[in-house]
Amino acid sequence: MQRIVILGSTGSIGRQALDVVMKRPADFSIAGLVAFSNREELLRQAEATRPDFVCLVDESAAKQLRDDLGSTASATPTLLTGEEGLLAAAAWEDADTVLNAVVGGAGLAGTLAALKAGKKLALANKESLVAAGKLVKRTLEESSGSLIPVDSEHNALWQCLIGEKDSEVARLLLTASGGPFWGRRPSDLADVTPAEALAHPRWEMGQRISIDSATLLNKGLEVIEAHELFGVDYDRIDVVVHPQSIVHSLVEFVDGSLKAQLGPTDMRLPILYALAWPRRIGPVLPAFDITTVGDLTFESLEPGWAPCFDLALEAGKAGRSYPAVLNAADEVAVAAFLSGMIRFQDIGNIINHALSEHEPIDIDSVDDFTQVDAGARASARQAKVS
Ligand SMILES: NC(=O)c1ccc[n+]([C@@H]2O[C@H](COP(=O)([O-])OP(=O)(O)OC[C@H]3O[C@@H](n4cnc5c(N)ncnc54)[C@H](OP(=O)(O)O)[C@@H]3O)[C@@H](O)[C@H]2O)c1
Repeated sequence: MQRIVILGSTGSIGRQALDVVMKRPADFSIAGLVAFSNREELLRQAEATRPDFVCLVDESAAKQLRDDLGSTASATPTLLTGEEGLLAAAAWEDADTVLNAVVGGAGLAGTLAALKAGKKLALANKESLVAAGKLVKRTLEESSGSLIPVDSEHNALWQCLIGEKDSEVARLLLTASGGPFWGRRPSDLADVTPAEALAHPRWEMGQRISIDSATLLNKGLEVIEAHELFGVDYDRIDVVVHPQSIVHSLVEFVDGSLKAQLGPTDMRLPILYALAWPRRIGPVLPAFDITTVGDLTFESLEPGWAPCFDLALEAGKAGRSYPAVLNAADEVAVAAFLSGMIRFQDIGNIINHALSEHEPIDIDSVDDFTQVDAGARASARQAKVS
């Protein structure tokens, strides 16, 4: 029986993780749940799972939750609040595994705290590795913890690499669905609305990653994540567009052989894999019938089709603090697009502005990250848009 803490339990990954946990009561139980401000959902989740603690990072929402908890008749979980609460949650003594499903650069603190406490970290928050990859890896090396990727592509690569030698890996091939606008010309996308950009053809996800999938910035973040996670150079990581999202990624070996991981388009599968690792248990999903899948197609992603992807690759290759700037500027730009303040194509212009203004540093500490993150957000807010 593994005791699990979920950081970001009220989000898309968090809710799917709770579904996995509740389907396997003999294998998993919930030690604690953390969200930012969604107290109604957190309260519902706490009633269903009876955790040791709940945590809201937003202090005013936490104050209201305190009143809600006081009025419930059932055993009351400990209430943690604020950033301090999140750090305590990630290091909770009576927990084995932390699933980090917080969105954005805000997830870094939980990643580092869980690893320092020697936990098994199931990492959905790719931004931790993108913005502070060296720091996360150093923390992992110095800890007794472990890190298993939840992102479906990286989870697939992880599975394909088991039992293989690094020296025999030729290339990593990340698959990309292409998002809602695949097949259209970039010049036709100037006036797309947030609703159109949020309508992903294959995956139901949180708002930020959905917009990032439409701009393909998300695939750029994933290339950086793969570089940091597997230590493979950028010139040996490629992206292929595979609109069916059945092949979750592939590894090519020096003999020319390709190994792929396939499965349904459902994040509960990589979540289950990461939570159960190093075992395999289940299933938690209906059987996947490969005969119903139909054609599987693979196309190349031409440079210039997705400017945000190209910017992400440049930032990844430039290294140092550039990927942290990429992430922070994108968070600002996506929020502005969702609130109707900027057009779709301005997302790339804002990121470009923040990257070109930036003076790089090495990110060796949380303070370094905080400084770069704040500077990039300020720069992104000042960018001129069309
Ligand atoms: N969704 C997917 O299918 C998918 C697939 C692969 C990877 N990922 C990655 O998984 C992560 C989560 O994505 P998502 O789609 O689940 O996001 P989401 O639906 O937006 O959920 C985000 C979660 O993070 C919490 N949160 C936000 N800001 C926080 C803060 N400052 N401190 C603590 N908690 C905070 C939110 O709490 P409130 O609800 O209270 O705001 C919510 O629980 C992202 O890094 C994403 O790239 C997602």
